[in-house]
Amino acid sequence: MTAQTKDDVYRVARLVLSRIAHPVAIIGAAHAGERSCATGTTMYVSLSPAMVAIAEHHGSRTTRLIRDGGQFSVSLLHDSQQELAAAAGKSATGPDKFATLGIPVVEPPEGLSAPAVAGSLAILWCRVTRSVETGDHLLFVGEVAAHQIDERRVDPLLRYRRRYMRSGHWTSEESPEGYPT
Ligand SMILES: Cc1cc2nc3c(=O)[nH]c(=O)nc-3n(C[C@H](O)[C@H](O)[C@H](O)COP(=O)(O)O)c2cc1C
Repeated sequence: MTAQTKDDVYRVARLVLSRIAHPVAIIGAAHAGERSCATGTTMYVSLSPAMVAIAEHHGSRTTRLIRDGGQFSVSLLHDSQQELAAAAGKSATGPDKFATLGIPVVEPPEGLSAPAVAGSLAILWCRVTRSVETGDHLLFVGEVAAHQIDERRVDPLLRYRRRYMRSGHWTSEESPEGYPT
């Protein structure tokens, strides 16, 4: 058997997973004096209670802090925040990645620990209810313990086909079939 190159390993991901359009989020976590964040994404996995899932790779400092602290934040980025997404997508030195990269912080509500990103469309602070090994990532399911919305910010930053992109315009009225999201 020949050795697989990195390109081979990620061939299907580049080709097909990249066709899953998704919101760009910054995942935040803190534990024992360390704070980190990582560009990522999220999906909801329960409506009531409200729960989301994130998948984080094992080499990430954010992954370790979520595992050790049992909490994370999801900051859903506005389309003006692409530079923050690019910055948080690389590792950084120092105990506080927010400080190292100059990412503006929203401190967590009382009883919660994960810092979040100022200027986001919405922030979800979550407590981990379950974690599952999934291939080369660790899937964290979190229940939304607190949230914050900026009603003035509407347009999400999206990722599709290995590019950042803006959303278009509404093509229906608000939830004509009554679905909650
Ligand atoms: C657009 C984009 C999406 C990403 N999505 C994820 C993801 O879902 N899960 C993950 O573990 N890493 C993801 N990454 C990579 C992490 O952001 C990257 O490994 C980061 O350096 C981790 O930082 P940390 O070591 O400080 O936690 C993504 C990067 C980019 C640019």
